[in-house]
Formats: sequence, structure tokens, C-alpha cells
Amino acid sequence: METNIDNIELIFNKHPNISRDTLIPIMQEIQDEMGYLGKDAVWKLSRRFGLPTSKIYGLATFYNQFRFKPRGKFHIQICNGSSCHLYASQKLISDLEKELQISDGETSRDQMFSLEVLPCIGACGQSPVMCINGEYYTRLDAKRLKEIIANCRETQTS
Ligand code: FES
Repeated sequence: METNIDNIELIFNKHPNISRDTLIPIMQEIQDEMGYLGKDAVWKLSRRFGLPTSKIYGLATFYNQFRFKPRGKFHIQICNGSSCHLYASQKLISDLEKELQISDGETSRDQMFSLEVLPCIGACGQSPVMCINGEYYTRLDAKRLKEIIANCRETQTS
């Protein structure tokens, strides 16, 4: 799904005086509104700022909070920080990648799941930790992880 051009125009209209300093904030606003920076958004930014699209992509990749693909219905953030790592988060990440057939930063073909591996999600005392659409799952193990994913799938089919 591509982003809505009209919404991008609305964001541009809020910033009549554009300069290089306004590029990142505008990119953030677009991402907040659309969930990601789609091709059309990058193209519009390029036209608006008089910069090649490669420059916009370059800048967006430098600040790694930007995404270029839409998130899945279930956006999974899993921690691989030092505390979670001690509790085998890497194995859980591998399990997730196998189960969902996606890697870090990807969205499943059916748009159901997206995966983001993070360095810490602020619940180190309850490692290993995962968060789906803002809901935290702590002290995870492989069995529970499977159940949680199966539950997500079930809620979509029932
Ligand atoms: S290291 Fe995993 S939540 Fe902090």
C-alpha cells in the first residue's frame, strides 16, 4: 500500500518555509502519519526539497528510525540487548524469523507481522522481552513465544 499523497501535502502545508533543517522533522511527521516512508513520500520530499531521491534515502537510512515498508498488523519488537542476550534472546529471534519467514526490519507477505530487533526496550529486569503493538511479553521462552504468535494468528481468523 502506498502512502496518501494528500496527507503528505497537508504536512508540507504546515511547513511553508522549508529549509534543510525542516527535512528531518517533516520526514518524521510523514512517518508518524503513514507509519513509514513510502516511495511516493520520498518522491514528494525529493521534489519539495529539490534533492535527489537517493539523498533522501541516504539521510533516512542514516537516522535509523525511518522505515520504508509498512508495518504488519502485529508489529513485533524483540530485544537483543545485553540482559536479554544473557537469557537467550538470539534463539528467540531465530525462532521468530523461522516462524514468520521474515528477518529484522521486514514485513510478512500477508502484511500480518513485521519484526524489529532492538538493543533494549526498557524492561531488562524481566528479560527476555518482546513487545507486540505496545503490549509487553516478559520472561519469554520458546514455548510461550510460539503460543503468542499462534494467538495473533487466531485473532485474525476468528
Ligand atoms: S536488554 Fe532487553 S529490555 Fe533491556
